[in-house]
Amino acid sequence: MAPVLGVIVGSVRAGRVGPKVARWFVRHAEADGRFDVRVLDLADVVLPLDLSGGDGPDAVAAWAGECDAFVLVTPEYNHGYPASLKLALDSVKHEWRGKPVGFVSYGGMAGGVRAVEQLRQVVAELHMVSVRDAVSFVRVKRAFDADGATPDEVAPDAADRMLGQLATWAGR
Ligand SMILES: Cc1cc2nc3c(=O)[nH]c(=O)nc-3n(C[C@H](O)[C@H](O)[C@H](O)COP(=O)(O)O)c2cc1C
Repeated sequence: MAPVLGVIVGSVRAGRVGPKVARWFVRHAEADGRFDVRVLDLADVVLPLDLSGGDGPDAVAAWAGECDAFVLVTPEYNHGYPASLKLALDSVKHEWRGKPVGFVSYGGMAGGVRAVEQLRQVVAELHMVSVRDAVSFVRVKRAFDADGATPDEVAPDAADRMLGQLATWAGR
């Protein structure tokens, strides 16, 4: 059985681009075939800010518990990652542990890489292993056509390398 890759759509903003970016990556990962790919859209779960638990955190815990590796799809907001993603990471604990994580980031000129650098610090505290290679889309609003395809020639190669590294760590 293929290991399970959990893809988290990190932005929840009205009018967000996140699902388009996630769709591209999910299609790519499914075609790659190394993982059984499952998506968690944070817009679909209610997570209390006071970390008091409940249905939302329970759902994230159950979902994360079934995953062997993760990819966080994150935009860059003011040189950081969105609060929704931090809340999700803080709402669950043991289910993240010992599992590899990669990043698909997007934004303006920097392609979300500053958000990813911050996330690497957070996931280390959760006993996750962040893999080296990541996918990054600059000027994301122009990065995809109406069918969700991208002319970006770097992203597919980066995604392949990242999936390879995730598969290596997920198999340990
Ligand atoms: C509050 C806010 C802050 C932003 N700050 C940055 C930034 O620091 N660097 C950057 O490259 N893009 C920045 N952007 C542009 C976003 O990365 C871009 O709008 C992206 O589409 C946001 O993701 P989303 O559409 O999934 O919410 C910012 C956007 C918002 C809404």
